Amino acid sequence: MAAVVVLFAAATAGAGSLPYVEFSDEHLYFGRIVWLGTCENCHGYGVADAPIPMKPNEWRHRVSKQREILYDHAINGFFGPDDSYMPERGGNTALSDAEVKAAVDYMVELAKFYIDETGEEK
Ligand code: HEC
Repeated sequence: MAAVVVLFAAATAGAGSLPYVEFSDEHLYFGRIVWLGTCENCHGYGVADAPIPMKPNEWRHRVSKQREILYDHAINGFFGPDDSYMPERGGNTALSDAEVKAAVDYMVELAKFYIDETGEEK
């Protein structure tokens, strides 16, 4: 039994993996799966200047936007003010509106977690 626990810990704390917090809420659990499948490819690492939810300075002003605007930008695509481009549905056109919205909700909660966690003005 102990060996199983150790293996599990090794798998979840794999090399370079970032702590993508799991929330008990079912909707956010689902959003996290969408995040891992599509959004994390850019947003986990800042690829193409994608804002990283674990960095409060990149998300503080986004968390305070209306949620409907974030949904719209994630579903329909968005050219940011500094010419960085969020592609429609993160480039995964197979995702439904509900899946994209759940991923946005997860990203916002993740960002809030890090904003609360650090409490820093970065
Ligand atoms: C190809 C890389 C890429 C992928 C994949 C990607 N994004 Fe983005 N996303 C970006 C970039 C770049 C921006 C920054 C746009 C800006 O504000 O300048 C962005 C911005 C955003 C924003 C903030 C929009 C705003 O109004 O500030 C949200 C929300 C978002 N993405 C959600 C998602 C979701 C949900 C997924 C997965 C379904 C996803 N993204 C996948 C590149 C990506």
